[in-house]
Amino acid sequence: MKERIDALLADIESLACKTEKEIEEARVRLLGKKGEITRLFEEFRTVAPEMKREYGQKLNQLKNAAAAKIESLKNAVEENVSASSASFDLTKPGEPFPLGSRHPVSIVREEIIGIFRKFGYNVAEGPEIEDDWHVFEALNFPPEHPARDMQDTFFVTSGHNPILLRTHTSSVQVRAMESMPLPIRIVCPGRVFRNEAISARAHCIFHQVEGLYIDENVTFADLKQAILLFAREMFGSDARIRMRPSYFPFTEPSAEVDVSCNICHGKGCNICKGTGWLEILGCGMVDPNVLEASGIDSKKYSGFAFGMGVERIAMLKWQVKDLRNYFENDLRFLREFETSI
Ligand code: PHE
Repeated sequence: MKERIDALLADIESLACKTEKEIEEARVRLLGKKGEITRLFEEFRTVAPEMKREYGQKLNQLKNAAAAKIESLKNAVEENVSASSASFDLTKPGEPFPLGSRHPVSIVREEIIGIFRKFGYNVAEGPEIEDDWHVFEALNFPPEHPARDMQDTFFVTSGHNPILLRTHTSSVQVRAMESMPLPIRIVCPGRVFRNEAISARAHCIFHQVEGLYIDENVTFADLKQAILLFAREMFGSDARIRMRPSYFPFTEPSAEVDVSCNICHGKGCNICKGTGWLEILGCGMVDPNVLEASGIDSKKYSGFAFGMGVERIAMLKWQVKDLRNYFENDLRFLREFETSI
């Protein structure tokens, strides 16, 4: 009997139950009506009287040890259950997810596109790596034409119709004229590349949004109206525009557009360099040669085109003095636009 008691004590000591069911099974096995400890108590009756004292103590010890062990196992399982159910509280609000902020160039690009969408323009996109035809030739830049020097080009290949990085998104307009049914009314946002030394005012990569409208009887008055409405949406309802004659190979006549300075409202400040005007875009009536190069009948159709730099508009909007800020991804700069999401 003594050995059985000791064996049971060791057994209880090492008892490891993980679930309430296992604990209950152990309890029945040890302390239940037919349990091992209960049976030992029954046998105790037959123990010789001189041994009763010693065995009695041992049996009581065993019974208490079993009860205490079962109690402590129960507590442990209960604690576990409450701990694990706490970490699966499905009603708890989620952890806030850090979203970051939109890049100022994206904000302004979307704003420009949004304005032209309201005017009924669609968005057209094209490849950044282009051929000479779509960037120059079809836009009335013949080979050796000095106007090619206006845009320092990164070439990928040389020879006939070389591959190059587009210097403007006018190439997308050519692709649209070649493939889309008329009338065409599109804006072409995208990255462009020019071989320029990087400084506060110039970069080798920047973003443009260019626009094209081709239909019957499109006139310079339509162009002026579109640009004026754009300027008012972008810079405020009191914005005024002025056009200065300019030159682009693909438009005739061509103009450079200034908007009244929204900082000093025309009085003259250091942003507009005292002139009261800020240059925002280039535009003009599509040259008939350009229409014909893409297979459009220039006797029947006419159109206008315009193009602007997104970084430049963003600079005017937020008075960012150094263009390089847009490309360095300095969080201190980017976080300034967090509220503009
Ligand atoms: N493509 C010209 C540029 O990149 C901008 C422009 C577009 C001018 C359309 C006139 C008409 O400088």
